Amino acid sequence: MARPVILLLSGPNLNLLGDRQPEIYGTETLLDHVEAARDRAQQKGFDLEHVQTNHEGDLIDAIHAARKRVASIVINAGALTHYSWSLHDALAAYDGPVVEIHLSDPKTREPWRHLSVVEPVAISSVVGKGGAGYLEAIDIAINAHNQSDA
Ligand code: DQA
Repeated sequence: MARPVILLLSGPNLNLLGDRQPEIYGTETLLDHVEAARDRAQQKGFDLEHVQTNHEGDLIDAIHAARKRVASIVINAGALTHYSWSLHDALAAYDGPVVEIHLSDPKTREPWRHLSVVEPVAISSVVGKGGAGYLEAIDIAINAHNQSDA
């Protein structure tokens, strides 16, 4: 049987990690985070698919394509987190657990970052833990899937 899949989604500007505001987001690249997340998922018997896009509609299409197929979604939606209600609706229409992850803690930053439209449709939000947050988010996503399967 095929291994269950965790879908890791990365929104706008996360392709620039490592280079972009390292004092906030650290010096690791997105690939570093994805590889660490993939190793963690594989150790636990899951495959990991990753999609990074700077386009809101592509993120929504990826969520639609995950329906009835992907075990759990882990998402760092970048700034779309703070205003994309179409992203919120797409995640609400997804049938598995969603885990939100941010490298920084947006609620301690500028006021416009304090709202997350992902939070209400996520089972958990991991924030402000840098790269370690990706591993924690993968663990939560896997545990939630395993519990829903039990
Ligand atoms: C971020 C936080 C967002 O506010 C910001 O727009 C990002 C990165 C984070 O991982 O800390 O692009 O999602």
